[in-house]
Amino acid sequence: MRVYAITGGTNGMGRALGLLLARRGDRVLALASGEAGGRALLDRAREAGAGDRVDFLRADLSTVAGMNAALAGVRERADRLDGLVFGAQRFRPVREETADGLEATFALTYLSRSVLGHGLVDLLERGEAPVILNIAGPGGLPGRVHWDDLQLTRGYTGMRAAMQGSRCNDLLGADFPARHPGARTRYVLYNPGFVRTGMADPLPAPQRLLTRVLARVLARSPEAAAADLARLLDAPPAEPVSAFRRNTRLDLSGPAFDPGAAAGLYALTRALPLDGGPPERERHV
Ligand SMILES: NC(=O)c1ccc[n+]([C@@H]2O[C@H](COP(=O)([O-])OP(=O)(O)OC[C@H]3O[C@@H](n4cnc5c(N)ncnc54)[C@H](OP(=O)(O)O)[C@@H]3O)[C@@H](O)[C@H]2O)c1
Repeated sequence: MRVYAITGGTNGMGRALGLLLARRGDRVLALASGEAGGRALLDRAREAGAGDRVDFLRADLSTVAGMNAALAGVRERADRLDGLVFGAQRFRPVREETADGLEATFALTYLSRSVLGHGLVDLLERGEAPVILNIAGPGGLPGRVHWDDLQLTRGYTGMRAAMQGSRCNDLLGADFPARHPGARTRYVLYNPGFVRTGMADPLPAPQRLLTRVLARVLARSPEAAAADLARLLDAPPAEPVSAFRRNTRLDLSGPAFDPGAAAGLYALTRALPLDGGPPERERHV
């Protein structure tokens, strides 16, 4: 029985993947901030005959306290991981700051993945063929990292924040082997394309309606995307880091994965004034 932790495991692709894995006999720990979503997931798992293989851990991954609680909660429940899947997201049309003074999309979409990925490597290294699967947007809409204003205090738009999150995740993946030389854990960045999920829920009414109509016509189901995700968990590429846009393997020699920029983002992340932040929680292998 393999063991998987999935952030954003109560909706969209995270939920579809978790149910797929649990149905086939694996153990799944789903993390999300909403209790109701967790209960609904457990109901679905029971209906699917997999109730004893799905666990829910409530944690607000946009806050440092929530990231720490998630690290501790995963450790309480598992002594090894075969896969760590990042799917937590919330689109924020208006800039919001977390209790730590960070822009919320940066904190949830990028920082929590940095903290959990680095902080759980030791559990992954005990897994059979461990994988970090970061569902983000490699090879998709461009956007950029706002090096001089990572917290987007100027000119915030929800799209700009979401795109910056994707670019930061590209660099996070590219940088992973440098932080964990010799690790068996494979880092896979995956852009699923347009998928019919809860993504549109936080949008203002007109955009929400439009996105849902477009999704009905153009997007694929979370279950279809989950099948691709499960294949990558089962058979990741041999290279320490890889990136895909749907089933197309991406070239990592482009600027999105530049090692210098990746090291720069790592340094900036280490320097964030977070009490007990990422550097202390890292475990090098
Ligand atoms: N859908 C697409 O078309 C698409 C396209 C490209 C990339 N992606 C990427 O694919 C991944 C999965 O997206 P999705 O569309 O499947 O997501 P989704 O349906 O919107 O689900 C988001 C999940 O994240 C959780 N979440 C939100 N805020 C959280 C917080 N503060 N702490 C912990 N968990 C939180 C939600 O639960 P709670 O609200 O209860 O916390 C939910 O389980 C994301 O990384 C997204 O950027 C999606």
